[in-house]
Amino acid sequence: MDTTKTILITGAAGFLGSHLCDRFIKEGYHVIGMDNLITGRLKNIEHLFKLKNFEFYNHDVSKFIHIPGQLDYILHFASPASPIDYLKIPIQTLKVGSLGIHNCLGLAKAKNARLMIASTSEVYGDPQVHPQTEEYWGHVNPIGPRGVYDEAKRFQEAITMAYHTFHQVETRIVRIFNTYGPRMRLNDGRVLPAFIGQALRGEDLTIFGDGSQTRSFCYVDDLVEGIYRLLHSDISMPINIGNPNEISIGDFAEEIIKLTGTDQKVIYKDLPVDDPKQRQPDITKARTLLNWEPKIDRAEGLKRTYAYFKGLTTEELNEKDHINFDKFIIK
Ligand SMILES: NC(=O)c1ccc[n+]([C@@H]2O[C@H](COP(=O)([O-])OP(=O)(O)OC[C@H]3O[C@@H](n4cnc5c(N)ncnc54)[C@H](O)[C@@H]3O)[C@@H](O)[C@H]2O)c1
Repeated sequence: MDTTKTILITGAAGFLGSHLCDRFIKEGYHVIGMDNLITGRLKNIEHLFKLKNFEFYNHDVSKFIHIPGQLDYILHFASPASPIDYLKIPIQTLKVGSLGIHNCLGLAKAKNARLMIASTSEVYGDPQVHPQTEEYWGHVNPIGPRGVYDEAKRFQEAITMAYHTFHQVETRIVRIFNTYGPRMRLNDGRVLPAFIGQALRGEDLTIFGDGSQTRSFCYVDDLVEGIYRLLHSDISMPINIGNPNEISIGDFAEEIIKLTGTDQKVIYKDLPVDDPKQRQPDITKARTLLNWEPKIDRAEGLKRTYAYFKGLTTEELNEKDHINFDKFIIK
């Protein structure tokens, strides 16, 4: 009897999805990657195409999903994830967080598979509690610009919990805090690739606001380890995974300038609406229940990430936006 476990990973061609594909392949799983390539790219997973235990479906998960045969796990990671992306495609963002998860939960129920969703620190909105524990209900503006993403993720948590309670589907909810590493898109609008891209192109680093707002960054390998442990645990309540080591954006810009050895200046622009001022995960639950904590500090993680970005071609470095959103937008 074949005891190989099969896992479906939606959003497989994205930053996190591709690293998860690598990890589960390494652990001996049969991995089915699914992605419609709206913000991801095949380059992130092309090294897997030659493998017998990897399959890829170019498919929109907001549409009905058919997977023949056995399925043991589903990781629903498909979703535009950066503000630049979800502001350009707000309806798709809401659809993947509602119709997409509904399809995945239906599939999990039919196959008796365990399902995990990629939730986010954005469910806490602009938090009034610091650091954020899983018990905090959040401070979200549903009709603000970030509402399309934040509320889609909150809905995902609600429907996932409902399937768990009413249909006994085995579910896991990971609340991911800012994560970084190789395969992020340089132009996805998130602060870390934005700073590195600007430094590599010889441009000044742009800070939105006065730079006093804080963020905490988790290296991708640490996050993947946390996800792997949570998936194999028996915890159905949400768990924060992130790195609590907080830094102000102003200090972070200085770190990037030092790392890249450039003498760029910092310029300041207006803070976007609803930009959270502070973000820091309380990871007590992950520490105690999963025996997990981040191992890779920012200096090491940034070194690895910078090495990846330095290896990009000049064309990739200067690419404004590789995504043809028009292809997906029904006007
Ligand atoms: N990176 C982070 O710091 C972070 C933080 C919190 C939560 N998350 C969550 O993790 C997941 C992955 O984020 P990421 O940073 O890798 O983003 P990403 O944009 O690199 O990856 C998302 C992937 O989902 C795919 N996708 C989007 N809509 C789809 C659809 N309808 N059908 C099929 N595929 C679709 C995209 O093409 C892309 O490959 C997202 O759900 C995101 O909300 C990420």
